[in-house]
Amino acid sequence: MGIPATKAKNIIDLESIRKDFPILQTMVHGQPLIYFDNAATSQKPEEVLKAIREYYTETNSNVHRGIHYLSNKATTQFEEARKTIAAHLNAAPEEIVFTRGTTEAINLVASCYGEAFVKKGDEIIVSAMEHHSNIVPWQMLCERRKAVLKVIPINREGELKMEEYKKMLSPKTRLVAVTHVSNTLGTINPAEEIIALAHDKDIPVLLDGAQAAPHLSIDVKKLDADFYCFSGHKTYAPTGIGILYGKKEWLTQLPPYQGGGEMIKEVTFEKTTYNESPLRFEAGTPNIEASIVLAQAINYINKIGLENIAAHEHELLVYATGKLQEIKGLQIIGTAKNKGSLISFAVDGIHPTDIGMLLDQQGIAVRTGHHCTQPLMNFYRIPGTVRASFAFYNTFGEIDFFVKALNKAIGMLK
Ligand code: ALA
Repeated sequence: MGIPATKAKNIIDLESIRKDFPILQTMVHGQPLIYFDNAATSQKPEEVLKAIREYYTETNSNVHRGIHYLSNKATTQFEEARKTIAAHLNAAPEEIVFTRGTTEAINLVASCYGEAFVKKGDEIIVSAMEHHSNIVPWQMLCERRKAVLKVIPINREGELKMEEYKKMLSPKTRLVAVTHVSNTLGTINPAEEIIALAHDKDIPVLLDGAQAAPHLSIDVKKLDADFYCFSGHKTYAPTGIGILYGKKEWLTQLPPYQGGGEMIKEVTFEKTTYNESPLRFEAGTPNIEASIVLAQAINYINKIGLENIAAHEHELLVYATGKLQEIKGLQIIGTAKNKGSLISFAVDGIHPTDIGMLLDQQGIAVRTGHHCTQPLMNFYRIPGTVRASFAFYNTFGEIDFFVKALNKAIGMLK
């Protein structure tokens, strides 16, 4: 495959970094845990665990609601977190909406943008490699509005067919919603080009960054993305928190998502007026703790440096790809030139679940199945894959053990 190899193998201080993640000391079935399921959720460093405890022991209170000490403290930390996350993405704080995760962020845009801008006969473009979370909300919108869902095709390597995409952009297209990095194939899509082509026709673009934000440096201004979403739990923070970035010019035009709590300006039984964005999209008590902790997680990864993270993970990808390619009957699904740090594969005549179970017996956590990308599985005509997804705390030694364990599993199942 065409992933360019690099040489350095000591880009980050692995020994010290691994000590930051207590869960990595876990023994599984008598073996040290090898955690290769980072695309499903990442593990949490001590700083994040400490920040969770600190929030509940020193700050816990509701935000934007009280005049007392703790409420002010919680509100300040919550809004500071918004600023940290905004700076991380090169956005303005009012362009950052706290959501439950990527899925809710996409649903929010489908609902609010859909209500304001999508009508009968309009078209929404997604791609063939989308996660269900970036298909179903658009399908539901299209059903409601009698709009049409268009799908950018991919080649066998798992890359978007950009010529087809160009042809699909039309005066009927209301929005393009594509993944930045595929959770199943690892493909890093040409986000800037996708956006520039859509913008040539005044079409806004949403990027699903769930698999990109933990690994790549994201600059929403440079990308010129209209909407960008990611999840806290894949980015070394807790579950139940996500980010929707929306350009100010869009967020100010969108109607509210849900009613209640901080989204109001004034309520009477006759009429309610709504708050400005981003609070307009944050009905109800938000996940205060996780919002604050997400900012801590971002500070943590920025200390290591996303460029160092990306470089180390690329080394892991190249190394593991080389080793897996040596296994007879193993087919890597997703061989794009530009790939993030995950490998999906199928082995002739063996169900992915059986491999996953035997790897688990040897202490190795991988994900098996369709990875919430059933249309992609249909495209490759396979029931699922085994997916090993790496984070910056993974090691070359773990890959060696994984390959040995995989060979053993294949030997038992053949
Ligand atoms: N979307 C997550 C994954 O790919 C859960 O595993």
